[in-house]
Amino acid sequence: MALLNILHYPNPLLRKKCNKVTEITKDIIGLADNMCETLAYHKGLGLAGNQAGHLKRIIVIKLPEEEEFRVLINPEIIQSFGIREVEEGCLSVPGYTGIVNRSIWIRAKGLDMKWKKWKIKVEGLLAQALEHEIDHLNGIMYFDHLVAHRRRTSRRIETTARAVRASRS
Ligand code: NI
Repeated sequence: MALLNILHYPNPLLRKKCNKVTEITKDIIGLADNMCETLAYHKGLGLAGNQAGHLKRIIVIKLPEEEEFRVLINPEIIQSFGIREVEEGCLSVPGYTGIVNRSIWIRAKGLDMKWKKWKIKVEGLLAQALEHEIDHLNGIMYFDHLVAHRRRTSRRIETTARAVRASRS
């Protein structure tokens, strides 16, 4: 296994649509392993193929309270419901977070590493992570969903602004 170089915005691969995986090859298995290792190293929630320089529809997700990595092939969202505002960041945009609109729940489907079909209905952090990573596969970045009044702000800037306000009051 090896650590992969995570591409940072504005690398053009982050705006590309990834191609469907057509079979589980040795290369795909190696890529999945390396993506998991890279995600763990950076303590991230998820990673998509193009973030690691591979235009393949493969994502890995690891929720903080879970031990296992989810390796998902050709994932797609088939239904979504509701809107909620959540804070979000991305390993390709280090140092920044923003408030974005995400769904309350989603239905998604895809394949696993054994080429077995899966279909799930999920909410909360897993739904958010799936929406974020599947967006990556379609060349969409989380800041494309920023709610208008928070556009181009970062936690760092907001924290500074709060400190300035506090020191004034
Ligand atoms: Ni991301």
